This record gives sequence, structure tokens and C-alpha cells, in this order.
Amino acid sequence: MARAAQMPDPDPLQYGTRFLTQEVPKTDFPQGGMTPVEAMRLVGEDLILEGDPFRNLATFVTTWMEPEAQRIIAENLHRNFIDHAEYPRTAEIEQRCIRMLANLYNAPGETTGARTQGSSEAIMLGALSLKWKWRKRREAAGAAADRPNLVFGGDVHVVWEKFCRYFDVEPRIVPLQEDKYTIGAEDVEPHLDENTIGVAAVLGTTFTGHKDDIEGINDLLVAIKNERDLDVPLHVDAASGGFVWPFLYPHSEWDFRLQQVRSINVSGHKFGLVYPGIGWLVFREKADLAEDLVFYENYLGKTDATFTLNFSTGASMVLAQYYNFVRLGREGYAYVMKAMEMNAKALAARLKENGNFELIGEDEEQLPLVAFRLAGEHDYDEFDVSWQLSAERGWMLPAYTMPPNAENVKVLRALVKQTLSREQIDRLADDIDQACKTLDAKGGAHPSERKKAKVSPGY
Ligand SMILES: Cc1ncc(COP(=O)(O)O)c(C=O)c1O
Repeated sequence: MARAAQMPDPDPLQYGTRFLTQEVPKTDFPQGGMTPVEAMRLVGEDLILEGDPFRNLATFVTTWMEPEAQRIIAENLHRNFIDHAEYPRTAEIEQRCIRMLANLYNAPGETTGARTQGSSEAIMLGALSLKWKWRKRREAAGAAADRPNLVFGGDVHVVWEKFCRYFDVEPRIVPLQEDKYTIGAEDVEPHLDENTIGVAAVLGTTFTGHKDDIEGINDLLVAIKNERDLDVPLHVDAASGGFVWPFLYPHSEWDFRLQQVRSINVSGHKFGLVYPGIGWLVFREKADLAEDLVFYENYLGKTDATFTLNFSTGASMVLAQYYNFVRLGREGYAYVMKAMEMNAKALAARLKENGNFELIGEDEEQLPLVAFRLAGEHDYDEFDVSWQLSAERGWMLPAYTMPPNAENVKVLRALVKQTLSREQIDRLADDIDQACKTLDAKGGAHPSERKKAKVSPGY
């Protein structure tokens, strides 16, 4: 009798992938490869375990763009932005964006700037220019130029301290206080001297979404220039605020309408409404960019000027930024910002009704967000609320402590973005109410739970 033929092992791809039962490559560079489908599923399955960007109330960064914008992005992923010789229209589109931003920020005349990876690169470049210009001024006066300092508040993003450490500049940080989370002229003045390369002020802080007293700081710097012949430039970190203030508070002066504001950075990927990977640096005038920082090269077929920390990078986000500028215009951006502001106010009203919270600076000019903290006595703290809400409903609502000397203050902060509709605001508020009820009944989170909670101010 003939024996039955041995069944071959089924091809794992016919019924699943190898990684249903095998470990994925993690350490050694894999010897062999795999099919595209397997690779795609392997990566995709890892990402399923991450948080849902639509429930991420921590991030300032764009989590949704229109399908038409997504199409532009997808169709141009193969385009290297720096290759200006081959892609001159992309370079022109970058320049259009810079001119439009200079116009939005009321630059007095012709100016210059750069597309960057985000505000961090823009700040590094802008602050380097401050340092170079300061050194030139000192050398021209025959004075020592070996001890530069930069003045800013404790309310800045970590990138400012990073700049100081990476590029050897003394940070002069104005500490915050309980109930004072931004800085003004009186805070800055004692720190200024002939070695100050500039002052950095924030429009829309990472911590509470408010602005430093940029107008007051400008007035101080103008007075010092007139009285002491000390020219200290002001850089505005408008990473978040640069696409909010022009539309929600057009009469509030923080930009090139103020004389000492020499440069501004803004993140296209925050309220510029573009996916991650785009920031902008805009100078008041061409002369504010230190010429020594511009490099000329001709490797790519044409002599080109570069002023960047990176070289090759994608063109898609520049094109997407231009798409948004022409698609929305001032009217469209104002519409989107006002919608977010209305929803932020709706959330703020619900949190007041909740009775457990107090809002931080709700009557001041602010980014479309709600910063709040617990009021009164509770058996739990803001970190517990954050943890409970995420455990019950999956919302990522960050809790964090304020920078020194306000580190005793714990804050919760919800960014209210385009994707958070009015209906979702109500759901979120209901879920916060429920999380408080649970905590009222059971007390604070276990230390092991707390460890899992998101505790940074987000980005
Ligand atoms: C005020 C401020 N400055 C700078 C940055 C850094 O920006 P980017 O993430 O675009 O590098 C942030 C990010 O949240 C910010 O809020």
C-alpha cells in the first residue's frame, strides 16, 4: 500500500506571518530578509501598542491633515529638500513661506530666514546668529568676547538650555515663582550686561500657554540702547504662539512691530497645522543673520547658500506648509484657531463645574489649551488624575511640575486641537468627572501606577 505523501509545512505567510509565534529581530542585524508584507505587519503591530494620537492631549504637534495635504506629502517623499539645483521650485516655495511669515510678523522690509526641522533647530540657528553678531560687536569695540550670556525665563522649553550647553553660552535663567509663570522686564533687567548676546522671550509657553511680557521687555531693551548704548537683541520663541497670536490676538504686539525683536522662530508642525518635521526661523532684516554662518557649496550642481544644522531632509513638509498657507489664508487660520479656542473655553467651563479644579490664567491671552490644577484638599494629586483618566478612558492628559522656583506647583494641561470636536470635549469632561469620582472613592494611585503615567509637559 502506497504511503500518504508527507504534508509540507505550510508557508507561514499563507495564514499569518512568522512573527505570530517567533520573536522579531531586535538585536543582531538580520542575516536574511522577509517579504514586504511581513515587514509591514511587523512594524505595524509594534505601533498598535502605542497611544492613539487622537487622544493625545499632551502634544502640541499636528496629528491630522486634510487628505489633499496628505497626498502632497506622500507624492513628494522622494524629494530631497536641500537639492535646490534639481528642485528649484521647492526652494522657491520655501522662500515664499518665509516671505509670507515675515509679512504675517510685520517685518519692516526685505528679510531672510530658513526652513528648519522644527523650532529646536530654528532656535539653535537664531541663537548662534545672536552669538556671532555679539562677538562681531565686541571685537569691533576691541573688547573681550569670551564670556557670552543669554537671558531667558524658567518658562522656556529645554532647547534654550541645550543651546547654551552645546554652544558654550552662560544661561541666565530667571526663576519662576508660585503664581508667576512668565517673565517681564523687571525680571530681565538685573541680568543684562555687555556680554549678553540676547534675550529670549516666549510667545505661548510649553507649561501654561501664556506669553512673556514681550512688549515690556522690548521697551526695556530700547531704553538700554538709548541710555547705555547697549544693543541687546530680542528673539521671540513663537514655537506655538506664532500661528495663534496673529489670528486670535492680532492687536497684541510681540513681533517685528517691536523694535528690538530681531528674530522669531515658529513650529510649522504645531499650530502651523503641518505634520512633524517643519519649523521656521525669520529675521527682522537680512543684516540680522550673521553672514559667517552661511555656507556656500556647489556639490549639487549649483552654488547654493546653506544655513542649517542638517543637510538632506524631506521636501514634503515644506510643500505641506505652503499648501496650508494658500489653502487657509489668514481667514482660514483664524477660523481654525477660534474653533479651538471656543472648545478650550467649553472644556474650561466644564472643569469649573466639576468643582475640583482651578484654571491657570484663563483670562489672559493664551494658546488654545486648558492648564489647570486641583483646588482644595484631596487624597490624590494631579498625577493621579492623569493616571486614572488614562487607565479608564485612554486619554493622555499630562501632569507635570512647574520649573524652579515654582516646582511645588503641579499642573494638568489639555491641548485642544482641531481633532477635538465639541462632542469630544463633552466626553473628555465627563471622563474627567468620572476619574475624580473614582479617585474620591479609592484615593490616590499606587506608586507602580504612577510610574506609568505621562509626566512631562509634552511637546
Ligand atoms: C516654546 C517652545 N519652544 C521650542 C519648542 C521646541 O520645538 P520643536 O519641537 O518644534 O523643536 C517647543 C516645543 O514644544 C516649545 O513649546
